[in-house]
Amino acid sequence: MKNRFLCGVLAFVLVGLSLPVSAQDARVAGQVKLRQSAYTVLGAQMGIMAGMVQGRAPYDAKAFQVAADRAAFMATVVPDVFPAGSMNPSSKAKAELWNNAAEFQKLMKDMQTRTAALVTAAKSGNLETIKPAFGATGASCKACHDKYKAD
Ligand code: HEC
Repeated sequence: MKNRFLCGVLAFVLVGLSLPVSAQDARVAGQVKLRQSAYTVLGAQMGIMAGMVQGRAPYDAKAFQVAADRAAFMATVVPDVFPAGSMNPSSKAKAELWNNAAEFQKLMKDMQTRTAALVTAAKSGNLETIKPAFGATGASCKACHDKYKAD
């Protein structure tokens, strides 16, 4: 009788401990997935533009403009997908980014400045004007990845 009672208590405690933990895991998994998805959309725009800049695809001023606009928009989204504690084994975010919030946000701002300048350059319709602006945007991605993203 006593054993049964203890087993019951133990089961209750175990369920009580494991439920919040797995709910937490699911929440973090969702946060990581949202973040990686947002970056996938951003990266896809860069890929479209890179093809044209590097001559692998014909330059299409309208398509380039759409990609630049979308990249600039996504650059305003990604700073908001790093809630504290949103790390798990499938995330490549380095933990230091949450301790260096000011620097991390500055790198985000740099990227926003570059993507905004790229939008302006795209309006010229001139690939020679676009190229340096595109290069500067790519460099702003790399600056953060080198520091805060695991390979
Ligand atoms: C201020 C920091 C920062 C900037 C700026 C930044 N990134 Fe990232 N990026 C990250 C971090 C951190 C991750 C890892 C996210 C994770 O796995 O949780 C990441 C991941 C990615 C991924 C992989 C997504 C996946 O599915 O795993 C792509 C693609 C990407 N970034 C593209 C870009 C591009 C393109 C730019 C520039 C236009 C850019 N990033 C700018 C920090 C940044």
